[in-house]
Amino acid sequence: MERYVVTGGTPLRGSVRARGAKNSALKLMAASLLAEGEYVLHDVPRIADIYTMQAVLERLGCATGFDDSTMRITVPDGIGSEAPYDLVRQMRASIVVLGPLLARRGHARVAMPGGCNIGSRKIDLHLKGLERMGATIGFDHGYLDAGGGLHGTEIALDWPSHGATENLMMAATLAKGTTIIENAARDPEIADLAVFLTSMGARIAGAGSPIITIEGVEELRATEHAVVPDRLEAGTLLIAAAVTRGDVLVQGARAEHLDIVLSKLADAGADVIATTAGVRLVMSEQPRAVDFVTLPYPGFPTDLQPQMMVLCALGSGTSIATENVFENRFMFVDELVRMGADIRTEGHHAVIRGRDELQGAPVRAPDIRAGAALVIAGLAAAGTTEITGLEYIDRGYQSFEDTLSLLGASIQRESVQRALQA
Ligand code: EPZ
Repeated sequence: MERYVVTGGTPLRGSVRARGAKNSALKLMAASLLAEGEYVLHDVPRIADIYTMQAVLERLGCATGFDDSTMRITVPDGIGSEAPYDLVRQMRASIVVLGPLLARRGHARVAMPGGCNIGSRKIDLHLKGLERMGATIGFDHGYLDAGGGLHGTEIALDWPSHGATENLMMAATLAKGTTIIENAARDPEIADLAVFLTSMGARIAGAGSPIITIEGVEELRATEHAVVPDRLEAGTLLIAAAVTRGDVLVQGARAEHLDIVLSKLADAGADVIATTAGVRLVMSEQPRAVDFVTLPYPGFPTDLQPQMMVLCALGSGTSIATENVFENRFMFVDELVRMGADIRTEGHHAVIRGRDELQGAPVRAPDIRAGAALVIAGLAAAGTTEITGLEYIDRGYQSFEDTLSLLGASIQRESVQRALQA
């Protein structure tokens, strides 16, 4: 097992480049199943979730390879149709191969993904949408067994689900007729997937808006694409700059994908400078208290909620955070309280009374974004913080310790002998 050892007190200073978005790249890889051929994806992050999706594609008969951050995918004419439990359980986003496999093969057998530490992660909206398109979906010993030809239809999502929007959009590209998805997710990664599918020959209008129209076509073709910059990695680094009262430029970050986050950071007292080169944040004093509410995009992203909680925990007043997207995303608060934070959670709300200081302590990451938040807390805490659960952080951030070290952080990654665990 490994841990980070973080020594607090150094403001982050310098510039780093944002990588391609994990939450787009994973779906672009799944979309490649829609047509045989040679695909090239640029700016793909080298992270565990991407490696898992590579394994899923290879299990389906594809060949994949990395050259630095460029991924090549060779999709054969005949592909398999089963995404096995041993891979899906590692990364529940594998469920997004369901739509492409159904559309391309007319059959798919995908392991039920199950929940994770932040919530039950239901997939009912994925399944209801595919059934409205004509799929028949059975349950067989923990697997979804889906079949049937797909036809265009109107689908109104109860919730603007990111994954359901993507699964249904991909399935609809080869369906007979036109599909309209209402109350669709509007995230930049959805628009990025639509650009990718359109370059494959799909006919899509409205991606990024609540109503997406997809006109089914006979066939698609392979393509090349550069993944949209990762707004969540960029937001994590900008919040880290604010927490450590530093000065950081995230090159390539798109301010328009972080509007409400940058607005909240400015409310907290940060100077936020958006340029064509990226987004720069300068913070010189204790952050002011800010309230924030997580909502589907363009609302405040739930994936930056833990990081923003750390800023509020060091704020000059009382903040209220409201988590509307996942039912269990305050779980990491107990770890932050062990570092001296004064936070009380009540259902969807967390009342955060800012403190002048946090103390370093041994803590454990329960998920990707909470792990990043605990590292950020360690960067500002007095003394040393030891963070385990790096298997989560590695799923979402490429060489997080190297990125932070480049900005002046004191962070080491070391193995922890099992004996010490006893
Ligand atoms: C994507 O998850 C992201 N993951 C998540 O990022 C992100 O937090 C989430 O979107 C919200 O923005 C990837 O893209 C790989 P949802 P997804 O479907 O698609 C409920 C990270 O750290 N729901 O929008 O699973 C669900 O239970 C991860 O990078 C249903 O009820 O999110 C949840 O409460 C964490 N039925 C809410 O909607 C469904 O069929 C949001 O889920 C689907 C979802």
